[in-house]
Amino acid sequence: MSQLINGVFVTGTDTDCGKTLIAGGIARALLKKGHNVGVMKPIATWGDPFREPGMKRKWVSEDALHLRLCAATSDALDLINPVCFKAAMAPWPAARLEKKNIDVERVMMAYRELCRRHDYIVVEGVGGLMVPIKREFFVLDLIGRMHLPVVVVAHPALGTLNHTLLTVAMLKHKGIPLAGVIINNFQGKTRAEKSNPTVLRKILDRRVIVVPHQPRFLSNYDALAHHLVKEGLLRWPHLP
Ligand SMILES: Nc1ncnc2c1ncn2[C@@H]1O[C@H](COP(=O)(O)OP(=O)(O)O)[C@@H](O)[C@H]1O
Ligand SMILES: [Mg+2]
Repeated sequence: MSQLINGVFVTGTDTDCGKTLIAGGIARALLKKGHNVGVMKPIATWGDPFREPGMKRKWVSEDALHLRLCAATSDALDLINPVCFKAAMAPWPAARLEKKNIDVERVMMAYRELCRRHDYIVVEGVGGLMVPIKREFFVLDLIGRMHLPVVVVAHPALGTLNHTLLTVAMLKHKGIPLAGVIINNFQGKTRAEKSNPTVLRKILDRRVIVVPHQPRFLSNYDALAHHLVKEGLLRWPHLP
């Protein structure tokens, strides 16, 4: 891969594993360290009706609003989240439902503008790496276009070794650098869950942070940022 951009792309092994929470926590950790950090949710689905006076857009992404709060930026929502569909589906079928095509060039223009405005960018993906944006263009291809290293957010429980290692293997296959893995929502209730962090650390030979299930992290972004920094996030490669 050619010259990397200063930033990370936060992907998941799956949907609902905590990408938004973790991407927001990373952004807040960098903000607290004094960086001018930008955030982006390039393509969102499951949008809510948007009723801000004067705005033309139809749907708004809760993820984009959350990320903007965490990073405390004033970038317009159209820039942070240029594409949003209503249906809770992958982007390609959600776009087809609205008889639309996803304009990747528009997404990339917004991305380049955010990169120009900020010295570090945190981008949240959609679902996992093989989620289709078009019939033959996947989240993985978007990461390639953005030239970003990747943070993988994983579920904590049984099944996650397979999903996490598949995700890491796919990144390696495409030559996309891995910044690290975050096992999120950890409760350690089962033997599988308890052993997963150690197993992943041994196989990947590094960089696995565990984030506990902690409802206060949903609104206390500073507490989450503090936890990530304490666990070594800022010593990861590709973090400033
Ligand atoms: N560490 C955590 N502690 C408590 N709740 C969490 C944690 N991580 C995620 N959640 C909850 O799990 C759900 C999915 O998280 P979210 O960040 O939206 O995932 P994704 O962006 O991958 O779809 C949300 O309701 C979120 O509030
Ligand atoms: Mg999300």
